[in-house]
Amino acid sequence: MLLKIENLHVCRGKREILKGVNLDVKENEIHAIIGPNGAGKSTLAYTLMGISDYSPSKGNIIFKGERINEKNITERARMGMTLAWQEPARFEGIKVKNYLTLGMKETYKKDKETMEKKIREALKLVNLDPDKYLDRYVDETLSGGERKRIELASIVCMEPDLAILDEPDSGIDIVSFDEIKRVFDYLKDRGCSLLVITHREELAEHADRVSLICAGEVIKSGDPKEVGEFYKKECGKCYKKVPEEKE
Ligand SMILES: Nc1ncnc2c1ncn2[C@@H]1O[C@H](COP(=O)(O)OP(=O)(O)O)[C@@H](O)[C@H]1O
Ligand SMILES: [Mg+2]
Repeated sequence: MLLKIENLHVCRGKREILKGVNLDVKENEIHAIIGPNGAGKSTLAYTLMGISDYSPSKGNIIFKGERINEKNITERARMGMTLAWQEPARFEGIKVKNYLTLGMKETYKKDKETMEKKIREALKLVNLDPDKYLDRYVDETLSGGERKRIELASIVCMEPDLAILDEPDSGIDIVSFDEIKRVFDYLKDRGCSLLVITHREELAEHADRVSLICAGEVIKSGDPKEVGEFYKKECGKCYKKVPEEKE
């Protein structure tokens, strides 16, 4: 098992947001997480990555057989974990080609030629013409869709053992399902595992397994179609009751 989450509790302020999450991600698995707004999905993603202020009050996060609760974000990244799909605001002002080498897998960094080949391959995979984008800057001159694509390209360059992707609640459709699927399949072919938080049914259905999170707990885990149906049928009434301002 690549990642094992046991009885994970996380508080934000005075509130307990995660109330005993149990979840695991296998090697080379695409695992999707679905659930209503406010369920605690992003909190889980941040906690797994070790973002400051998101530390568990109880439970275990075990990655590659090692308990990583006390490890910081850099140590977790070094172990092969990455959290993506956030706005890459931190990298404002650096060139796309340099951004893509930041977290690049060491095997592609052995010489300039190999590195450039990988960068070009990654950009092509997300439908961006390398000749047009390599020297662009990661800044506000890029559209939302271009930024998302470049971020996907950066995961392609990283080939992390585990990529955690937190899909934002808005602007969901700027990258098409086919493009995302192509990137996911490419990464899976190279042995990566993905933990994908998504609102898109088609994406969840493409996963190997789906877990449904509600009110800070995983309430169902298993076959994508089955869990998806359960979510649609059983969570309908309850969904509207979740206090959340978004959507
Ligand atoms: N700093 C905070 N203090 C208190 N509550 C918070 C804080 N951040 C998030 N929350 C609450 O935690 C709950 C889960 O949020 P989140 O993990 O973003 O859910 P999701 O990603 O599933 O929509 C929400 O009810 C949200 O309002
Ligand atoms: Mg969220």
